Amino acid sequence: MSHTMQIPTDTPRAEKYELLLQQAQELVRDEPDLIANLANISSLVRMYCDFLWIGFYRMVGDELVLGPFHGPVACTRIAVGKGVCGTAARDMKTIVVPNVDDFPGHIACSSSSKSEVVVPLVAGNVVELVLDIDSEQINGFDETDVRFFEQLVELIRLAHFE
Ligand code: SME
Repeated sequence: MSHTMQIPTDTPRAEKYELLLQQAQELVRDEPDLIANLANISSLVRMYCDFLWIGFYRMVGDELVLGPFHGPVACTRIAVGKGVCGTAARDMKTIVVPNVDDFPGHIACSSSSKSEVVVPLVAGNVVELVLDIDSEQINGFDETDVRFFEQLVELIRLAHFE
């Protein structure tokens, strides 16, 4: 059984992300089930970060299907190439959208979402899932955030897809 640590609210963001990565690492080390780990990681991040929505879409067959998440109810299936998630999956690269209104084909699961980051998990040239994070602020993410999200995805890749 893992226990989450306390992170003081005034902890600098980069330091907080470091602590969250350590905690996520401990969670995945103790548990081999992917869904359980995605569920705990989305909860962990939402506990300490003020994002509107954080969660995962898994590649099932030829489309993305909603996985564990925290935040408002979301659309369940996204075709590869559609929306931010499907585009990140198709292109196999991180997409940062500072203003969702400027992204052609953005899928609005929540009207409160103003900016978004999607990081695909690529293993053996196959996209296994994407991490999706939404902010209520325009331009809600900077390089520190994106680096944290990519490190989280890498941690999941090493634990489950190596
Ligand atoms: N906005 C995403 C859809 C998923 S929700 O944001 C949770 C997209 O355009 O793919």
